[in-house]
Amino acid sequence: MTTSVSRIVDHLIDDEQARFAASHPRSAHAWKTGRRTFLYGGPSHWMRRWAGGFPIYVDEARGCHVRDIDGNNYVDFCLGDTGGMCGHAPEAVTRAAVRQLERGTTHMMPTEDSLWVGEELGRRFGLPYWTLTTSATDANRGAIRIARMITGREKVLVFSGCYHGGVEEAHVELRDGKMGMRNMIHPNGFDHARLCKVVEFNDAEALEAALMDEDVACVLMEPLMTNFGMIPVADGFHDAVRAATRRTGTLLIMDETHTISCGPGGYTRDHDLEPDIFVAGKAIAGGIPAGIFGLSRETAERLWQQIPHVNPRQRQSSHFGIGGTLAGNALTVATMRAVLEEVLTPENYARMHTQAERLAQAAESVIAKHSLPWHVTRIGGRVEIMFAPDPPRNAADFRATRRSDLETLLHAFYMNEGILVTPFHTMFLMCPATEPADVDRHTEVFARFVDKLTDAGLA
Ligand SMILES: Cc1ncc(COP(=O)(O)O)c(C=O)c1O
Repeated sequence: MTTSVSRIVDHLIDDEQARFAASHPRSAHAWKTGRRTFLYGGPSHWMRRWAGGFPIYVDEARGCHVRDIDGNNYVDFCLGDTGGMCGHAPEAVTRAAVRQLERGTTHMMPTEDSLWVGEELGRRFGLPYWTLTTSATDANRGAIRIARMITGREKVLVFSGCYHGGVEEAHVELRDGKMGMRNMIHPNGFDHARLCKVVEFNDAEALEAALMDEDVACVLMEPLMTNFGMIPVADGFHDAVRAATRRTGTLLIMDETHTISCGPGGYTRDHDLEPDIFVAGKAIAGGIPAGIFGLSRETAERLWQQIPHVNPRQRQSSHFGIGGTLAGNALTVATMRAVLEEVLTPENYARMHTQAERLAQAAESVIAKHSLPWHVTRIGGRVEIMFAPDPPRNAADFRATRRSDLETLLHAFYMNEGILVTPFHTMFLMCPATEPADVDRHTEVFARFVDKLTDAGLA
């Protein structure tokens, strides 16, 4: 990219951010005020990542629609980065939550709803033994701890470009073939060199080589990557992963926190994968904080050998290092039941996939009309637009072809035009309430973005 192109893009971003500031005075003021009390301006540091320059402050969100405190309306394809995949304020979840709020939210005793939830998790995802946590991060931490306990090994292998929450083991990436810390964040006293391995996604040979020493407790992976661009899985890769993990006695943890958008049983069920541990979170309780992990029978039996069921006659510490006091609380369980029973149904998945396909096809037509070297990927209810001709095979590909400046410009333009997408890359998620008119609104905005680039001599 030449300097003059990059200067034009920078100017366009400045213009969009100025337009955003002018049309969002109350959010701008709220953000300024928030910086007095919050470390990074908002209650979570993630909230500072929006390309308009600051986040909108939400007045109300319903279905896939959001209204901010300045009265601007949006079609939301970010959906809380999947936490809102059931749609905002889904009626069934609200009903279940209100009912449970009136009966007590957390007792460290189960409610009968949990029996239904346990059965349903097993039926959907195909693993028999489950534990609830308060987040997907926590579910991954628990899964890793169990993998280490039962294999007696220390290392965890992840794929470069992955994200699995605040899990130290996953904060590594490959740069020029060497493992380093993702984003150069502080190592936090954690010996990544000793405890982690990382290979590129879709690289079966590298994976086999990394597992050969039989020192890896588990491979932690998404079935396709959704956190560094959307990276589809290559044919045969899952078979290779499963064969190599089995051959070397390594456990396989499938993190479907995002890919649960593929179908009612996640990618795992759609493609008959056989993980030893299955993880999900975010949307699973309709936006009420929750994570889940499920163990195969064999994995559970190996764990019970290490940590048997507690004998209640004995006074003993039941510290386990997994989950927290609020894990599996009654409110979470009630809303999880509502989600599984009434929201994330096969019918609603079909609707989400239809709208995702509509969005992908329309975006492809815009790209084709202008002969742009860009592509669109759709997997289940998720779509990604990338400024490169072909889908990346791995993180290195994505890094090499990524146009961060254009992404920022597009995202700032979207915010001004009433479209929300995840701020980390150009990924769209559908919810059951997403209608064709919502998708068409995106198509129209995206077409205008391309016109804008054409006018500026950039496309
Ligand atoms: C695949 C995956 N796993 C785990 C997490 C962590 O989720 P949470 O932040 O809700 O703990 C994320 C968050 O984006 C994720 O994408």
